[in-house]
Amino acid sequence: MVRTAILVSGGGTNLQAIIDAHIFGEVPNCELTAVISSNPNAYALTRAEHAGIPTYIIDRASFHNRESFSDAIHKKLDHLKIELVVLAGFMYVLEPPLVKAYTNRIINIHPALIPSFCGLGFYGLRVHEAALEYGVKISGATAIFVTNGVDAGPIILQKTVRVREDDTPKSLQRRVMEEAEWKILPEAIALYCAERLRVEGRTVKILGEVYPDGD
Ligand code: GAR
Repeated sequence: MVRTAILVSGGGTNLQAIIDAHIFGEVPNCELTAVISSNPNAYALTRAEHAGIPTYIIDRASFHNRESFSDAIHKKLDHLKIELVVLAGFMYVLEPPLVKAYTNRIINIHPALIPSFCGLGFYGLRVHEAALEYGVKISGATAIFVTNGVDAGPIILQKTVRVREDDTPKSLQRRVMEEAEWKILPEAIALYCAERLRVEGRTVKILGEVYPDGD
């Protein structure tokens, strides 16, 4: 079983998608070992408690700088003997020592088609505001392995979502979650836990991938 920690900061709908997929047997070989929240009031903590997953709060507000915050998370992950770390709506950048120690073992979900609308400052609703301001016809979500550049790691999975003319940032955010994030994040975890992901430079190879005829 792959001991997995999920890092959250807010509502936790992506966490819920992982919990649901786990209940339905869609992420075999994955143990949901811990949910770690940067925010003591995150609703994600309630979701974890309902699912019987141990929760830990590492409150960003009680650390003076990014390094000591990231360090505290690092220690907790090591202590819990975590193999896979999943950032599910986690709103902070992890520092190089942690990222290095967990190379190709940290998965993040981003609510746009990377390399569009990503990087520093692009998180949550802001991503969808930027996509609508730009006038794109298609958006979506991307699951990546975390590296030291923000949203710059190798892409595991992407899924597109059509933008509607009457979309608001909130309606687009909701559709991207429902149609893309909640599907590809559990799928990426399942692929990792099945040992089907191989990172080659910037590319992630999915072992045993079958393409439909004509693709
Ligand atoms: C999600 O849309 C997630 O992709 C995004 O924040 C939201 C959190 O929702 N993450 C980022 O923007 C990270 N760059 P959730 O707490 O309900 O899962």
